[in-house]
Amino acid sequence: MSFVRSLRAVPLRAPRALSPLQLSRSMTTYQHTILHRTHPWVAQLVTELHAQSEQQDAQGTGISSLNSQDVQKRDFSRFSHKMIALEQDKAELIYAVLRNKKATRIFEAGTSYGVSTIYLMIASQAAAAAASSDKAMVWGTEKEDHKADAAVANIATALKLPKGTSDIPGFTMLRGDILEQTRKANIGKNSLDAVLFDIWAELALPTFKLLEPSLQADAVLFIDNWLTGVEIGTYTAFKEYLEAQGWYVAAMPFKNGLGMATREMSSQASKQDVAPGSAAWQELHTTLHSVGDSIRREVVGESYVERSLSNANDFTMPMQKLATEYAWGGIWSRPGLARRDRSILNIGMLAALGKSTELATHVRGALNNGVTETEVQECLLQVATYVGMPAGMEAFRAADKAVQEWKAAQNTASASTSKTS
Ligand SMILES: C[S@@+](CC[C@H](N)C(=O)[O-])C[C@H]1O[C@@H](n2cnc3c(N)ncnc32)[C@H](O)[C@@H]1O
Repeated sequence: MSFVRSLRAVPLRAPRALSPLQLSRSMTTYQHTILHRTHPWVAQLVTELHAQSEQQDAQGTGISSLNSQDVQKRDFSRFSHKMIALEQDKAELIYAVLRNKKATRIFEAGTSYGVSTIYLMIASQAAAAAASSDKAMVWGTEKEDHKADAAVANIATALKLPKGTSDIPGFTMLRGDILEQTRKANIGKNSLDAVLFDIWAELALPTFKLLEPSLQADAVLFIDNWLTGVEIGTYTAFKEYLEAQGWYVAAMPFKNGLGMATREMSSQASKQDVAPGSAAWQELHTTLHSVGDSIRREVVGESYVERSLSNANDFTMPMQKLATEYAWGGIWSRPGLARRDRSILNIGMLAALGKSTELATHVRGALNNGVTETEVQECLLQVATYVGMPAGMEAFRAADKAVQEWKAAQNTASASTSKTS
């Protein structure tokens, strides 16, 4: 919405949700939107909705007709049937940030006919699909029932849900006063990725305070009309509060300024975020496991890993997981030492400890990491010298078997390559 002054009157007419057939064929610009790359159909729909909103504005009774008296009186009842949609360039930027952030849980203060909400929904659904997450949710807020109805219908159209769908998966329409409804909404602690404030300025701070416990440490806030609000003082208290809580608001030079706020993650916040059992904790383990699994496969070979996993049972699998996460994911992923050096170190340690089975695995890994057969011998001779002859003898027995098996596997592989080439 914007704050240009004009006082022409035209009759109020509530726009309805669009059907695909109603989409204008004359539009060309939607093809240049960010949204178009992944969701051409939605890009076309929202471009049409933005155009409708701008058209209302151009008629002289839209939000552009807001004057200083309205602002002072804080009376916006004249706009109860107006779309007042967020401008398309702002919505596009917000969409791009949300996609990069992989935001799944997003709250919107001020939904109206749901134009910006469509962007939030598409971003949330895309991130949830990529992460196979069932936690995605967008909350819309609207006190005018007819607007809330139109928002639901527009979102349903964007998601190609059957006409008349009132229950949209991944979307909660909070109808009524935002503060009352937000207090009752069960959003969950430390779970919101983003909030869009596109509502009368005085509602932003109390809404923010209600949402504060639900914000993730790295949440992002978008605040429409930030620069104007700061200039005319309607955002003074909000700005001061945000700053006191460690938020930094970047003012972007869109119409009336779009604020984008983030905060430095305090150690307290990060600790909360990765509390044992939390979603972030699970994600850390999953990431570590996946990194470890690929390094392990590269070093000791696919077939060895597959064999270890298929031989594991309910009792031994936790050990497989621990080794994959902490040894392969935790230490082998570190950049400070080359893989062949880590292999040489392991050969020395495992031989000294007399752990022949593990030594054989790591001799195979060492050969895969470029350690030569002669270098393996030298490692073991050094073990025999520093640790003792029995350790050296035992290590040679295990290593010899591993070297012979590794060479045989190499020969088989090169024979089959030369047959197929
Ligand atoms: C600027 S519009 C939102 C536009 C929307 N984000 C879009 O891009 O389509 C702000 C909306 O907030 C709603 N609103 C105002 N006060 C409210 C309140 N106390 N509770 C819930 N909604 C409210 C208004 O009815 C209006 O539709």
